[in-house]
Parts: sequence; structure tokens; C-alpha cells
Amino acid sequence: MSAMDTLYHRILKPVLFKIHPDTVHEIFITIGAFVGRFWILRRLFNFLYGYHGADISKTVDGITYHTPVLLSAGFDPDGHLTQILPSLSFGGEEIGSITAHPCEGNAKPHFTRLIRNKSIVVYKGLRNKGVDALIKKLRERGVTLLRKETPRSPRSKFVLGISIARTNEKAASTVEAGINDYVESFKKLNEAGIGDYYAINISCPNAHTGETFTDPKLLAQLLPRLMKIPHTKPVYLKMPINMQWDQFSELLVLADKNDIQGLIIGNVNKKYEHLKHPEDAPKEFRGGLSGAPCKELSNELIRKTRTEYGARFTIIGSGGIMTPEDAMEKFAAGADLIQVLSGMIFEGPGLIKAICEKYHDSISL
Ligand SMILES: Cc1cc2nc3c(=O)[nH]c(=O)nc-3n(C[C@H](O)[C@H](O)[C@H](O)COP(=O)(O)O)c2cc1C
Repeated sequence: MSAMDTLYHRILKPVLFKIHPDTVHEIFITIGAFVGRFWILRRLFNFLYGYHGADISKTVDGITYHTPVLLSAGFDPDGHLTQILPSLSFGGEEIGSITAHPCEGNAKPHFTRLIRNKSIVVYKGLRNKGVDALIKKLRERGVTLLRKETPRSPRSKFVLGISIARTNEKAASTVEAGINDYVESFKKLNEAGIGDYYAINISCPNAHTGETFTDPKLLAQLLPRLMKIPHTKPVYLKMPINMQWDQFSELLVLADKNDIQGLIIGNVNKKYEHLKHPEDAPKEFRGGLSGAPCKELSNELIRKTRTEYGARFTIIGSGGIMTPEDAMEKFAAGADLIQVLSGMIFEGPGLIKAICEKYHDSISL
């Protein structure tokens, strides 16, 4: 364990875990946005948490990632952390999920920690400031500046994926309104040229508009409408993980037919009975579970998809990466890239650098 990991586990985490997770999340966003504004602080964090080994950049769908580890959707919905994350060894982040209209999200609390389960109950309900605010922010930020500054490999950059969901409000709850909502965000982002790839989030379990588009009949209506919009960036689908393989396959057939380039496998776990200590969970369903309870379900679906479809889809593995070994399991299952969120909260930001080092060892064997 590095000195920074010891600091996190012995001092920072015990303090942070006494504070409500909704508040800790807000603190992290505020501090991360502040630190990212100053070159000297970015350098300091890069010194402490940056990966400084041999080149591990990876090119996927024509995009070269500085490292193959991304921050998952949901931690930074409005793009406040784009400047600090490259210093923490991330090769990119998935901003969002954003929606066509600003969204207040569900009633708080948005997050509940299940410490013994290494999981968070997520009930945010897609709180975000909307696509227009994101485009304005990223334009003002001049994201290109940071890309020149951080990567070690001249071809690689800090990649910005943008996750698009349907606005979580009654007005968008019919199928047609839902499709129009996705289409509006997708069109605006493409016209603005913002984002390196797009993730269509069809699997958010804690919005009152529901997971409508995991129904194959409805996904078959959504995808052609989206994909006929002129676009030059890869489009990925964020997949649910609580599905039997035959149901999951139906979604893959549609993804294939509609020229979707990749899959993010996958979203949170809706089954509280999958917890190691289910007695710690809320008595009623209050959003999906992140972290450890996602790991096996996601690995299994990645493995089967790779076996069935070979190299047809890019696969981004997400769910339950709490150690460098978990990350290696995701790659071994067939992931091209991985995403981490809960692992960073439970194990500290040093986890990302440790994953990069382990990944380097695995590819240089
Ligand atoms: C705090 C939090 C917020 C999330 N919000 C979103 C979201 O807005 N969109 C999305 O596609 N997934 C969201 N997720 C799911 C994550 O992107 C990820 O798929 C899931 O947490 C599994 O990864 P992990 O085990 O590394 O956390 C969220 C997860 C967490 C913990």
C-alpha cells in the first residue's frame, strides 16, 4: 500500500464516511473543480496519483486513451472534473448522464453507503443541469488545453464520453416523448461537436420514467431514430445487468442491426438479495446497487457477449472494480476499456494508478 493509500484509509476515509454521502459527493465535486483550475495543483495531484510508467495508451474506435481506465457515468454529471481527472491516472471520463432538460432528480437522500457490502444505493434520479448547460460549460472550458498538457503519448488524449438519458420528469414519460428527449440531446451534442463518444443510457433503474427502452420492442423504435442523426463519433449502449442471457441477446441483436459500435456492461444491480449482507439494504427498493454486487453479473455478460459476437462490439467493462485484480478480470472477460466509480470511493483515488500499473505488467508479460 502506498503512503497516499494509507493516508486515505487511515485518515480521510474514516472522516468522510462519517459524513452523509450526498454531502461528500458535493464536497468532492467542489474541491475537484477548484483544484483542476490551477496548473500547480494539477501537477501536485499528478505527482501523487498520476501513472508515470511506460506507455499504456490504447486506441479503441479510433480514439486513443492515455490509460484504459475511465470514470463511470454519474459521479460528474455536469462535467466539473474534466481538468483534474487526468492527474488521477484516468484516461477519460463519462460525463452525465445528461438529459435534454435540466433535472432536479429524486428526493434526497440520493446515495446510501452499504459499507460491509462495498456498495452504494443510487437514488439520484438523473439530477443534472441539462444538455445546453453542459455544452456551454465545455465550450467555455476549452477542453483542448488540458489535452495538450497531460498526455505522455502524443496521440493520446483525455477522452470525454457523454452519457445521454431521458429527462426524469412526467412530460418525458411517454415513449414518443422519451425518444424525442434522447434525440434532442444527441442532435445538440453532435451539432456542437462536444464529446468523443456517446453512451445511450437505457438502463437507469431509479428514474420514474423507468427503463422503458430495455424493452426490445421500444428499443427497436429508439435506435433507428437516433442513428439516422448525422454523427461522426462512436455510439455505445449502456446495458442493464439484471437480465437473463436470452433477453440480453435480444438487445444485442438490435444494437448490431442499428450499427451501435459498443456496449457498456453495465449499469447498477437492482437485486438487493445479491448483497453479501442484504439486511443492510433499505427495506423497500430505493435505487440500484453499485460496486461489489455488480461484478460477477457484469463479468458474465461481458464474457458471453465476447464469445457470441467476437470483435463486433467495443466493450467497456463497468461494475464492481474494487481492486487491480478485479480490473484484470474485466479485461480477461473481454473488456477493451474499463470504468470505475465505487472502487474510487471505497479504496481511494490511488486505486486508478494501481490498476494502470497492474495493467502495464499484464501487457508486458
Ligand atoms: C453515485 C452514482 C451515480 C450514478 N449515476 C449514473 C448515471 O447518471 N448514468 C449511468 O449510466 N450510470 C450511473 N451510475 C452507474 C455507474 O456508472 C456504474 O455503471 C455502476 O456504479 C457500476 O460501477 P461501479 O461498481 O464501479 O460503481 C451511477 C453510479 C453511482 C455509484
